[in-house]
Amino acid sequence: MKTRRLSPNTGGIEEAAALLRQGLLVSFPTETVYGLGADACNGTAVAQVFEAKGRPTFNPLIVHVADIAQARSYVHWSDVAEVLASAFWPGPLTLVLPLKDGHGLSGLVTAGLDTVAIRVPAHPTAHALLQNFDGPVAAPSANPSGRISATTADHVLSGLDGKIAAVLDDGPCPVGLESTIVGLVGPEPVLLRAGGLPEEVIEQALGHPLGQATGSEITAPGQLTSHYAPGATVRLNAKNRRPGEVMLGFGAVAGDLNLSPTGDLTEAAANLFEFLHQLDARQLPIAVAPIPNTGLGRAINDRLKRAAAPR
Ligand code: TXA
Ligand code: MG
Repeated sequence: MKTRRLSPNTGGIEEAAALLRQGLLVSFPTETVYGLGADACNGTAVAQVFEAKGRPTFNPLIVHVADIAQARSYVHWSDVAEVLASAFWPGPLTLVLPLKDGHGLSGLVTAGLDTVAIRVPAHPTAHALLQNFDGPVAAPSANPSGRISATTADHVLSGLDGKIAAVLDDGPCPVGLESTIVGLVGPEPVLLRAGGLPEEVIEQALGHPLGQATGSEITAPGQLTSHYAPGATVRLNAKNRRPGEVMLGFGAVAGDLNLSPTGDLTEAAANLFEFLHQLDARQLPIAVAPIPNTGLGRAINDRLKRAAAPR
C-alpha cells in the first residue's frame, strides 16, 4: 500500500474522512502525539490498527470524538466527568468511563471491557477530521508497538509507511506527550497514566488529590515497563556524557540536544519524542540529563523510565 501524505486543508480532511469511512487507517495530528485512526465502529478497521502497529495483544484503544455531547452518547456520565470535561475538553485528557448498552463500538476498541477511554482532542485538524467523519475514531499513538511515539508526520512514516492509507501532515504536535488518563469507574477518580495535562492542574479542578493506580488495572502498552523505546540503550539522570554516548540535555546540562536550555518543562515535553527520534538515528547509547519530577516533568520521567527499561 502506498501511504499518502495529505494536507490539513478542506480537501485533505475530506479525503482522510472518506478513507476512514472505507475502513482504512489514517494517521492524524492531535495536540499530544499523532494518532493512528480507524473507524471505532468497524471491527475490521480496528483490527488493522493492531496489525499495523505490531501490537502483540488486543489492548483497548482511546476513542476520539468531536465534542462532549458525542462522548456522552457512549458512556454513563457523572458529576466528576462533567467537572473534568468542562474544565479540560477539548484538551490532553482522556477519561475512562462505563460504557452504555448498545454503544456500537467495536469490541476490539474496548478489549471487551465494560469501560471505554474517550477524549476530545483540541488540535484543529483532529477536530475538523472528527467533525467531518461524524463518528468515533479509535486511535493509539502512531508508532510501531513499543517504540518512540510520533510527534511529526515524518516519524509516522518512518514507522508505518506502506502499512496505512494516509497521514494528515500538520507539522509537530504542540504538547508532545500522550494525554493524561483518569479513570472514573470506581468511587474515586484515579490517575491511570501521567501525560500532557499535569496532575496538579487536575487536582485543582477536582479540589482534592487523585487516587493512584493500584496496578490491578488492565495492562496496556503505556503501562508496560519497556515502552517508548529507542533502538539503543538509555541511561537516566546522567550528569555528563560518557565516551561513545550521545546525550539528551536539560537546563544547564547541555548535551548534544537540549530539551529546554531554560529548564522549561512545557518546551521539554514538546521536544522529547522528536529529540529521542533524532538521537536514536545516531545508533549510540543515549544518556539523559535529570528532569525535575513536578508538573509535566512527571510524565516526561515516566516516558524516559520506560524508554530505559530492560527490554
Ligand atoms: O494522547 C493520546 O492519548 C494519544 C493520542 C493519539 O490521542 N493516544 C494514545 O493511545 O496514547 P495509546 O493506545 O497509545 O494508549 C491508550 C491507553 C492504553 O495504554 C490504556 O492504558 C488506556 O489507554 N486505556 C484504553 N482503554 C482503557 C480502559 N477501558 N481502561 C483503562 N485504560 C484504558
Ligand atoms: Mg502509545
